[in-house]
This record gives sequence, C-alpha cells and structure tokens, in this order.
Amino acid sequence: MRIGILTGGGDSSAINAAIRAVVRRGFEGGHQILGFKNGWAGPINNDYVEMTDESVSGILPRGGTILGTSRTNPFKMDGAVEKMRENLKRAGIEAMICIGGDDTLGVAHKLNHLDEPILAIGIPQTIDNDINGTDFAIGFQSALLVATDALDRLHTTAESHHRIIVVEVMGRDAGHVALYAGLAGGADTILVPEHRFSIDDVVDRIKKRRQSGKTFSIIVVAEGARPEGREQIVITEKTDAFGHVRLGGIGEYLANVIEERTGLETRSMNLGHLLRGGVASPFDRIIATEFGVAAVELVEKGEFDRMVAIQCGDVTSIPLEEALTTRPVDERVFRMAQLFF
Ligand code: F6P
Repeated sequence: MRIGILTGGGDSSAINAAIRAVVRRGFEGGHQILGFKNGWAGPINNDYVEMTDESVSGILPRGGTILGTSRTNPFKMDGAVEKMRENLKRAGIEAMICIGGDDTLGVAHKLNHLDEPILAIGIPQTIDNDINGTDFAIGFQSALLVATDALDRLHTTAESHHRIIVVEVMGRDAGHVALYAGLAGGADTILVPEHRFSIDDVVDRIKKRRQSGKTFSIIVVAEGARPEGREQIVITEKTDAFGHVRLGGIGEYLANVIEERTGLETRSMNLGHLLRGGVASPFDRIIATEFGVAAVELVEKGEFDRMVAIQCGDVTSIPLEEALTTRPVDERVFRMAQLFF
C-alpha cells in the first residue's frame, strides 16, 4: 500500500521517533510511505516526499518534526478538502497516518466520515497530554523532564534570594504539565485550568510558609489557569484556524499581585516553547516507536478512524471520536499534590 504520514499542530520531542517507526515498519510490510509537509497543508498543497531509510536515519532522538507542522484546518478553507482528496488520489495514497493533538486528530476523524472517506489513523502527540483514551501522548514526558529541571534550578535561586517565583507552563485546557512537573519539581502551589484558584489562598499559603521559616516559594501555573473572577489571560484574542486564542501572561500577572499583596520579592518566568523542544526522553522514544508500528498494523488490518493508545502499559487503539474530548487531570493526583503545598 501507499501510506501518507503527516505531523500537525504544536510540535514536541519524539515525533521523529514515531515517523521513523512508521517508515521502518511500513517498509517491513512492503509499503511505500509518503511524508506530507507541514501538517494538513501538505495534502492540500500536494507537498510530500517519498520516505526512504535515509530519511529517518539518525532522527530517533531529535526534537521537532522532519516533516514540519502547521495549524492548518482544511475544513476552514474553501475547496481544501476536495483538493486534498484529488492530491491524495493522484499520489495513490490509500490511508493517512496523522500525528498530532485534538485539532489534527479531529480533522482525521472528519475525513473518515466524508461521503467519499479519506481513510486515516491517529497517533496521539501533544505536550499537554490531554487526549482522552491514552495514558500518554508523545511529547508529554519529554516536556516534564524540561519543566522539572527548570523547577530544580529555580529552587536554588529562589532560596538564595528568599523570593517567590511563579513559573508558567503550557497547558491550554488541562494542567497535566503543571501538575506533574509541580509534583516532581516540588512546587509549593500548583494551579491548573480545571480549577479556578483564589489569589487570597495563594497569598495565605506563602505567608504561612514564611511563618514556618520557609522564606521562598515556587508556584507552577498552567497558561490556561484562571483566578476567581477572571477569564484566561491571553497574549492576543486573535484565534488560530481551530479557534484557539494565544494564551500567556498568567504567571507575570500572578507574580505582580503576589508582590503587591505580600511585599515580598517575586519573579516570574514562562517556560513556554522550551517545553516543546530538545532531545526526546527515552520513554517518549519508546511509546512513539510503539505507536508508529501499531499505526501501520491498523492500516494493514483495515481498521481506520482509530487512534493508537497506551493504557496501563498496553498498546491498543480506540475510536478516534473517543479521543477528541479533553482529558482533565486526575482529581486523586491533584488532591494528593495539595499534601505537599
Ligand atoms: O497544543 C499544544 C500547545 O503546546 C499548547 O500547550 C499551547 O497553548 C500551544 O500549543 C501553543 O501553540 P503555538 O506554538 O502555536 O503558539
């Protein structure tokens, strides 16, 4: 078969490990693999490369995606879906393997349900780790490594200067990065989009720590977290092709309020896109490899409109539709984290 592969939406580490697995398992099955460039823009613009062993040689650990990505939504562009269909037909593509988050996978699901379907399989990938039906998406663990290292480093300078440091991390609708990096990095407060937070409570916790002799605090806040009485803080209300505003600034906002309310030296920093780059963690390389192999095997079995997943250590697959709801943080873990505030 001729199988197309694309990588869409926010990038992360270990995408290349998945691409490499699709190519190597595809060749094992006697298939040709075409790599479409820059997410859904590739099929729309007929922009692809025939993948070879050389294409994927040495890319296992490399961050980013050798195919490029974009936030292109063919369902928001006149004629784009038909153009995509013609291009895929002309290229002889019988199935697409799509690596990405809810936006990319949402397009893949819709394509499977056209009157004349474009057959597609999804591989979950986003540092947000908020894709339903899989314990892990590619990129999350690598982002945790970066965030935890940052929190370890910030502890020493916060302690030396007796300061409060507010660390903003990515996580638009769910606080998985904030929660698990905060747990691993020993944060004194963790704020997530799933729970509106009280600034009074944050300030009281800082004061109580001071009274107990802890002259510094580290606060981790997800970019999508909201203080009581306020909506999410954005950099721009302008939305992307999937209707998302660009979030950012909650960390600085909170640091300013804390300094005003406590009189304590407070700093903030936004880890931002640092969380998306760099060498892939071993765990991410392994699940990405498992996912790439499993995706080709779903194509061979003719099981489309599904997403590969890992559940309790087992690699499986679920209907794409089930994957498209945001997976919130585990309430049990969020409550447990409060023990350490
Ligand atoms: O979708 C994953 C993500 O990293 C979000 O956490 C973040 O809000 C968004 O992408 C940032 O998107 P961009 O890189 O397009 O600014």
